[in-house]
Amino acid sequence: MKIACIGTGFVGVVTSAVFASHGHEVIGLDIDENKIKSLSEGKVPFFEPGLNELLKKTLNEGHLTFTNSYKNAITDAEMIFIMVGTPSAADGQADLKYVFSTAESMAPYLKENAIVVIKSTVPPGTNEQIEKIIKQKTKTTFTTASVPEFLREGSAVEDTLHPSRVVIGTTDKKTGEKISQLHQPLSNKIIIMKPESAQMAKYASNTYLATRITFINQIADLCEKNGADVEEVAAGIGEDPRIGTHYWYPGFGYGGSCFPKDVSELAAYSRAVGESNNLMNKVHQLNLARAPYLMKKLDQKVGGWKNKQVAVLGLSFKPNTDDTREAPSIAIIEYLQQHGAQILGFDPKAKWVGKTTNFSQKNSLEEAVINADAIIAIIEWPEIISFDFCKTRLSKPQFFIDGRNQFDPTTIKNCGYTYLGIGRE
Ligand code: UDX
Repeated sequence: MKIACIGTGFVGVVTSAVFASHGHEVIGLDIDENKIKSLSEGKVPFFEPGLNELLKKTLNEGHLTFTNSYKNAITDAEMIFIMVGTPSAADGQADLKYVFSTAESMAPYLKENAIVVIKSTVPPGTNEQIEKIIKQKTKTTFTTASVPEFLREGSAVEDTLHPSRVVIGTTDKKTGEKISQLHQPLSNKIIIMKPESAQMAKYASNTYLATRITFINQIADLCEKNGADVEEVAAGIGEDPRIGTHYWYPGFGYGGSCFPKDVSELAAYSRAVGESNNLMNKVHQLNLARAPYLMKKLDQKVGGWKNKQVAVLGLSFKPNTDDTREAPSIAIIEYLQQHGAQILGFDPKAKWVGKTTNFSQKNSLEEAVINADAIIAIIEWPEIISFDFCKTRLSKPQFFIDGRNQFDPTTIKNCGYTYLGIGRE
């Protein structure tokens, strides 16, 4: 199948490479010339396991090309995927300006019976809006659909090659069949529904997971009041098949390019439709308050952050990515800066891009902890959780803050640290 993929951000590059790896003829389009140049040379501008290899392979096989010309990308395309950004607007709802300008730019070149698929995260009602925009520019017959993306950063290639399900939002039978055909080699769980339902499914899925994390964070806070261990509690509830064991890791709050944005957009959307007193609004606020709340609590336990040397380990929002968008490290470092600490950061891939007051990023974990009064292990990078912190223990008192409960409290205490976990000890 001839496919055009518009937008070469995270979802765009992964999707283009995966379809191309299945033998489809894919053209990736972006208005950013530098991105096109670098992708055409086989260079991915961000870190994602397995993606560089897949990109190079599909480029070499000739199944994938990149362009910044709408004419080149759209003229022969049977299916066009819109995968441009939908940042939050001032009122908190998704800003659809890039989706709309993409629709407008592709319209003059659309082939007869082309299918325009929205993969960007958009609110219900967007399909009608783009159909209207396209119809103003062309008399060609086309259909639209919404196929939301559920991939996770850090395992994006794997998630796209083997998605847990493919949700196809369309009211046109033929369109549904064609999109199903394309996805059949990837998944046997294909669910066809109305576009509005597909769009709500995406928002609801991310908001549900974010709510679970917020819930276990709050249970952790209660455990700290009564001597319970949240890890034991999570095990005790997770074995209930109605509940499950996933997304039960408490910490400094969820981050990334999706959860914070999608929850706050659903919250703004609910306010706009007159449903302001709901869970979505509360979850977003609780997550924003999470890191400052923990830092304040820890402040008392460590005897104040002022003039303390603090090693902050894990700057990305999760392991296996260099993405720092909405990462908990941001709120933690800003808190430490405001409270006069000296901060030494370390991450296997991510670079600190915030203010550098009292902050320096180290190339190795050893350098970050060299004189630390407190160590905050935020993210469960394998390099961090497998590190032998006993080896670097100093003779002065040291706090070990296990922000993801990845360490055995007894081992850490036996090395001489004061161990502080989340919802335990
Ligand atoms: C998420 C969704 O999982 C994915 O389906 C969607 O397409 C995009 O958003 P991603 O942002 O890559 O994917 O990361 P994910 O692994 O889901 O983690 C999101 C955040 O939640 C991270 O900050 C992570 O550390 C945090 N998290 C996750 C927790 O705090 N506790 C958990 O138990 C799980």
